[in-house]
This record gives sequence, C-alpha cells and structure tokens, in this order.
Amino acid sequence: MTEMQPQIQPLISRKASGLKGRIKVPGDKSMSHRALMFGAVAIGETRIRGLLEAEDVVNTAKAMASLGAGTLRDDEGVWHVQGVGVAGLQSPDQALDFGNSGTGVRLALGLMATTPLIAKCIGDASLSRRPMGRVTKPLEKMGVRFETAEGNRLPLMIYGARNAVPITYTLPVASAQVKSAVLLAGLNAPGRTTVIEPVATRDHTERMLKAFGARLVIDEVGGARHISVEGQRELNAQEIDIPGDPSSAAFPMVAALLSEGSDITIENIMLNPTRTGLITTLIEMGADIEIENRKLSGGEDVGDLRVKASKLHGVRVPAARAPSMIDEYPVLAVAASFAEGTTRMDGLEELRVKESDRLAAVEAGLQVNGVLTHSGPDWLEVSGGGAPGGGKVTTHMDHRIAMAFLVMGLASRIHTSIDDGSFIATSFPDFVGLMNGMGARMAALGPR
Ligand code: S3P
Repeated sequence: MTEMQPQIQPLISRKASGLKGRIKVPGDKSMSHRALMFGAVAIGETRIRGLLEAEDVVNTAKAMASLGAGTLRDDEGVWHVQGVGVAGLQSPDQALDFGNSGTGVRLALGLMATTPLIAKCIGDASLSRRPMGRVTKPLEKMGVRFETAEGNRLPLMIYGARNAVPITYTLPVASAQVKSAVLLAGLNAPGRTTVIEPVATRDHTERMLKAFGARLVIDEVGGARHISVEGQRELNAQEIDIPGDPSSAAFPMVAALLSEGSDITIENIMLNPTRTGLITTLIEMGADIEIENRKLSGGEDVGDLRVKASKLHGVRVPAARAPSMIDEYPVLAVAASFAEGTTRMDGLEELRVKESDRLAAVEAGLQVNGVLTHSGPDWLEVSGGGAPGGGKVTTHMDHRIAMAFLVMGLASRIHTSIDDGSFIATSFPDFVGLMNGMGARMAALGPR
C-alpha cells in the first residue's frame, strides 16, 4: 500500500450567492493519463500542453519514468515525454505507486502487458480495495501472468508476456479502462487485437491512438463497436493540447446553478459526446447552460460553458446515459436534492466500484444533510426541495464525494462539512481557491 497518506483536511462550505467570473478548470484527467502513456511508447518526443498536474496524473508520469521513458516538466502544464517504442519499456527498479487512480493502474497494466518486464504495482487503501480482475482476466488470455492480493486486488506483480497472443474480447462491463487496457496490450502483440464494446464508453484512447498513428479500425456491428488495433507498429510522437476536464467543470457548473444570482463562464471545456451526459441531464432539469465558442482542439470538441442560476426540476436519468456521465452522479445527486420533485437515476452498478462505493457514499451524504432518498443495487432516487444541510459527510478517500458535498454547502440552509478534503488533490488541486475566487465560502474546519 502507498506509504505516505496525505494529512486529513476537514472542510466546511457555507451558503453563498451570486457566484461570478470566468474560470478555467484543470486539463482533462483521462486525456492526461493517456498522453503520458502513449508518449512513453511512441518514437520521439511528445509535447503536452494543459496536462492536469494532480496527484493521479503525476503518479502516471512517475510510473512512465520508472519504466524507462523520459519525462520532463517544462512549464505549468507543459510536459515533454521521450518515448521508447512499443516494445521498449523496461522493468522498474521499484514498485509503481498509482496512489488513488484506477485509470492509472489499469491502463498501465495494459501498456506493460505484452513486453517481457516484471513490475510490482501498488496504490493507496482506496485503490487497493478496487477490482483488478476486470483487466487481469483479458490480459491473461494474451499470455500475461499476475500474482495479486486476494480477490484480484493490489498489490500485484505483473510478468509481461514474452510471446503475446492477440485476442478478441467482448467487454463484460461498460468500462473505458478495460477497453483501453486490452487495446494498449494490443500495441505490442502480433496481429490484430479487437475489443467489442456493446455499450459505448469514453473514446479518448481510440482518438488519441489514431493521432499517434496507430492502425486502428472501428466498425459498428449490430449496435456494438468493434475496435481493432494492429500490433507491433510504432507510434509517432505528437503535440497534444489538453482541454479542460468536463468532470471537474461539473462542480462549479452545479454550484452556479444552485446559488442564487450566479452567472459564470467555464472556458475551454472538452465536449466529447461520450462525456456530456451531465450537461444533457441538467438542461432537461431546466438548467440555463449555454455553450459558446465551440471549436475543435486536438481532435476533441471544446467550448465555453456559460451557466446561470436556475430553478431545476426532477427527471428520470436513463441507464443508457450512465457511461457518458459515470463520474458525475455525486454532483448530479446534489443538484437533484435542490430540484422540485424527485430525480431517479438508473444503471448505477459501476458506482459501487469507484474510488469509494459512490452509491452508498452519496446516499449517506444526502441523508446526513436531511435529504430523503431511496436506493437499490443499481439505482438512486433523490427527493428535491432543498437540502437543510448541517451534516458532516464521510468522503471515503473519494475526491468527487468531497467536491460534491462542498457544492451542496453553498446552497443548503445550514453549512455542510466533509471529514477530509485532501483527496481533492488527486484531480483538482486548486478547487477550493477557484470556487472561493468566484464567491464561494469554503474553508478549513478546525478541531472542535
Ligand atoms: C476513465 C474511465 C471511467 C471513469 C474514470 C476515468 C478513463 O472508469 O470512471 O474516472 O479515463 O478511462 P471505467 O472505465 O472503469 O468506467
């Protein structure tokens, strides 16, 4: 397990109104991990601008350096990666520590899988509880050997395949991480590796691999996506601009909707259609969100989000939308608690295996703040009408639980507090500063 645990930071958030300003949120986390990893196995120097410099991504950068790639931070968000080729990764001298990041470890396992190296992978207590069998199982079919802790968890040892076998694999769960792990393993396997995706998930791996020159073919067959990569072909280093993370923008966006008199603009947000389920849902709920300055940047749609305080009403969020907003349910549930009527969310089974059991953590956080909820194994119903607040939320080492309930405090009758905000640094290091800069009232909570 990760040796150093960050210091616990209890935080409080008080009622605020009239959030104003033009802000930028940090670079997209999914693209940041991928830019570093693909750069590490490309030929030449990849230059990245707008990299998210948060703990999860910094751990990926360190892992790539331990595997032999050159990584250099040039300026704020500007990184250079010297790649070693698709077969060039080396066994690291020490354990690769992925901290809190499921994406970091699962994609790296795929990247390492088809090179005959040996590595130990570790993570913090939250990551060490999360299932790794979803990636080790398909990778084993490609010839990789793993030794894992009980239940296919971290810490684990990976013994990369010397003679890799390409596979065709149908995803049993809607997971971009599993899809990406298999495709990345395919980069150094002979022949074609194919992933069949019955339900579309975020497609940054496909877009970015194509940009790096991978031979990638995508077919639609009977509603499923068949994604094939031809292995043992080199990638070419790229220049990559990373736009703002829509999953981070979600927090100021909901904050502005809920606090009276607000009018903010969040600039340069990635609007890839596999990531915009929250915006669709909030607009259905009556949110005043306008997309301005739409353009294409680095192969992705981007735009500025103008968000004004709005009266929301409850809706039914279909299960089919879950993959496009999988990280946004905590903050959507907070928005729903201030809407008129009930909001019902279906298809939430994957929330059980995120940085925390997010369905349970969200429900407990809502209830401790006086919100009425009902839930089942994969659904949540939130009664609106406004959260009285006053509760202290247990965040379970989960950055998104922490940020969602700080947003709740801005609109509750009484403040809300959280037991620990330190994990916000895994994805959005200056969250509190940025929110307070627009007029929010978030602060450290001293011991009572
Ligand atoms: C991610 C995929 C999602 C998401 C995570 C980032 C990615 O996980 O929850 O925050 O970058 O591929 P799953 O693929 O496991 O659903």
